[in-house]
Amino acid sequence: MFLKFFPTPLLFLLLCSLSAILADYDADPTRSTMEQFSGYPTQEPDSVSSFSVDTVSSFSVDAQGLQKQIDELSSFSDTPSPSVTRILYSKMDVFARRYIKNLMGLSGLFVREDAVGNIFGRWEGYEPELTAVATGSHIDAIPYSGKYDGVVGVLGAIEAINVLRRSGFKPRRSLEVILFTSEEPTRFGISCLGSRLLAGNEALMKSLETVVDSQNISFFDAARAAGYANDEEDLSSVFLKKGSYSAFVELHIEQGPILEEEGISIGIVTAIAAPASIKVDFEGNGGHAGAVLMPNRNDAGLAAAELALAVEKHVLESGSIDTVGTVGILELHPGAINSIPSKSHLEIDTRDINEMRRNTVIEKTHQSAITIAKNRGVRLSEFKIINQDPPALSDKSITEAMQAASQELNLSHKLMISRAYHDSLFMARISPMGMIFIPCYKGYSHKPEEYASIEDIANGVKVLALTLTKLSLY
Ligand code: GLV
Ligand code: MN
Ligand code: MN
Repeated sequence: MFLKFFPTPLLFLLLCSLSAILADYDADPTRSTMEQFSGYPTQEPDSVSSFSVDTVSSFSVDAQGLQKQIDELSSFSDTPSPSVTRILYSKMDVFARRYIKNLMGLSGLFVREDAVGNIFGRWEGYEPELTAVATGSHIDAIPYSGKYDGVVGVLGAIEAINVLRRSGFKPRRSLEVILFTSEEPTRFGISCLGSRLLAGNEALMKSLETVVDSQNISFFDAARAAGYANDEEDLSSVFLKKGSYSAFVELHIEQGPILEEEGISIGIVTAIAAPASIKVDFEGNGGHAGAVLMPNRNDAGLAAAELALAVEKHVLESGSIDTVGTVGILELHPGAINSIPSKSHLEIDTRDINEMRRNTVIEKTHQSAITIAKNRGVRLSEFKIINQDPPALSDKSITEAMQAASQELNLSHKLMISRAYHDSLFMARISPMGMIFIPCYKGYSHKPEEYASIEDIANGVKVLALTLTKLSLY
């Protein structure tokens, strides 16, 4: 029926351009995996704006001020610039938190903190009994990383509130900016500690009673030193009920190269890949590096080295570009050149947008650890899965609001998946969730060269601000 309206040459042209579009589509692995995984079509949604176009065009981001804040925050670091190292509950973390709370106050937000130091800044809506709309990210930074990861989603969120105030917007639902505690697993080995707890993770709450850092400082001692968890052994006060927020949106640098390579301003995240982390310990007899002959050794260090290679092998066996695995920590004891390692410790990170494939890597890695221990005569004293999280899907109503916002701001945008994890992975358990990505230089992240231009950050802030208006008025 549709075809009969087209004369033959026009039909031919139409089919040619359609097949070109489809070929292009197939050639883009990110796009196809995203579509397969999320099941979302990539067509533009109808505009769902409820905020006047005049007001939108008056949105002004204080780019200079925001850049100054990013630079100032980066000075709270335990390593020299341009690197940033800001570990949970360290002195620098406490200073940085104070800096953020001060900015929240200056933006007229009502600030509160929970027992583990998740920080909330609230702008009361004119219907305060309605569930609020939240946005936010983290400011902790792994050793020798950069100054944009997480920070853009916290400082950018506060600036989005300023943009809205300057524009004369009045929120219907309250708006809340959240700074999440310890998105990075650096100190206690647990990623997204604050957001996992907010989502009501009882097992994590229990494990925090006994967990210690590499200096043998307990979680509670560290938290108390930073002014949190006072007289509280029971952290269930941190838990939020499902439905506590009507929406959660996180602004973040992409941490991958796609947006920059394609010259696109905004990434609209449809799904977050499934992360897992594992701790492994081997124990052997150790001994003198000269005196113990090769046939008589059971070298825990070599067992660790062999397992690291096995992780790579199992990841590659998945046959998918989306499966990744990293041994980011490998420690040998006693750590002397002339001593055969008697103990080794590995920490393995593996992720995939396909949870089953990721789980297969974990199972194969476990089997390898058992076999390697047997063959080398060492003991596999620990194989502990620290977290084995499922992926999360963004909520369609939020991706549509973000798409509409990008369109109204005339910003190019595309749907994409997040291969990095974020607090949004856990906020999705209690609230409809969405994420806004902005380009970053060469996709660099978790290293000092991480960089995002202030123009790209300002675009992200505008999209966030406009998305918040839509979700707040809804
Ligand atoms: C977050 O920092 C991640 O490792 O994905
Ligand atoms: Mn990070
Ligand atoms: Mn991050």
